[in-house]
Amino acid sequence: MAPSAQSLPTSVSDEKYANVKWEELGFGFCRTDNMYVAKCKHGESFQEGKIVPYADIQISPCSAVLNYGQGLYEGLKAYRTEDGRIVLFRPDQNALRLQSGANRLCMPYPTVDQFVSAVKQVVLANKKWIPPPGRGTLYIRPILFGSGPILGSLPVPEYTFTVFACPVGRYHKDNAGLNLKIEDKFRRAFPSGTGGVKSITNYSPVWITLAEAKAKGFSDVLFLDAATGKNVEELFASNVFIVKVEERVVPVEDLLDAEEVFCTGTAAIVTTIASVTFKEKKTEFKTGDKTLAAKLFATLTDIHMGRVEDKKGWIVEL
Ligand code: COI
Repeated sequence: MAPSAQSLPTSVSDEKYANVKWEELGFGFCRTDNMYVAKCKHGESFQEGKIVPYADIQISPCSAVLNYGQGLYEGLKAYRTEDGRIVLFRPDQNALRLQSGANRLCMPYPTVDQFVSAVKQVVLANKKWIPPPGRGTLYIRPILFGSGPILGSLPVPEYTFTVFACPVGRYHKDNAGLNLKIEDKFRRAFPSGTGGVKSITNYSPVWITLAEAKAKGFSDVLFLDAATGKNVEELFASNVFIVKVEERVVPVEDLLDAEEVFCTGTAAIVTTIASVTFKEKKTEFKTGDKTLAAKLFATLTDIHMGRVEDKKGWIVEL
C-alpha cells in the first residue's frame, strides 16, 4: 500500500520548509526528523518496518557490522519538481543492487517493493527537508547490516535495514571542472572482490589517498585497476566517462589522449573533469558549456525537475 503523509508521524505540511539555508548546502550530514527501521532474525525474511524519530541506534559491540564489516549502503535522491511533485529516480535499481550485494555478503534482504516503500515513507516523513526545486535534493541512505552479535562464524542472529535522509547540495564544489590525481599506489577494488557491490568496506581503506590528494589541492582521486595498475577504474564516489562511444577497459594512455572526461554518480550527478595528474604530469581536458557533460547534466536535471518528459519510466512519483 502506498504510504500517505497523513499516516506518518510528522506534523509538517508540504508548504513549510525546514529552517535551512539551501544555497549554503554542501554534501554533509544534516539531522532530519524521521527514519525507517526494519529488522529480521536469522533464517527469517524482513517484515514491514516502521518510521521512527531520527535517533542513534543501539548495537552490540560484537555485531557483525562492527567486527567484520558486514554492511551495504545505497544512495538515491528525492527531487521537488517545478510543478510541485516529489519524485524519485529509478529506486528499483537501487533495490536490485542492494539485493546483489546482500547475496555477496551473505545477508537477507528486503524485497524491491519493501525497499521502495521504505524510501517513499522516509521521504514523506521528512518532506520539509526536501529542498525547493533547483536548490538541492534530499539524499536518501538505505543501509543493510548484520546487527546481531557474532564472534566466530555465521550465522549472524539479526539483520537491520534502515533508511535515513539528509538535504544536500552538490558533492563537488569545483564547478569549473575537477582536477584529479591518478592514484598510483593504493588500489580500490580487485578481481572477485567486493568492488562490484556497495559494501561499506570499499570506502574507508582509500580515504588515506583521498586525504593526501585533497591536501595537495586535488578535487578527487582516480583509481587504477588492481590487477595491472594500467587501466582506468573509478573515482572515490563516482564512475568516470571518457568521451568515446564504447564500454571497454580504458588504459591510462587513452584517458590522457581524450578530449573530454567526466564523472557520474548519485552524489556527483554529472561533473566535468578539467585535468588529471599522473606521475606528476598534468593533462587538461575540454570544459564549459559545449561539453557532452554539460548537455547530459542539463538533460538529467531537466528529467529530475519535471521540465522534460520522462520517456523511459525512470521517474517514480510519491
Ligand atoms: C553516491 O553517489 O551515492 C555514493 O555512493 C558516493 C558517496 C561517497 C557519497
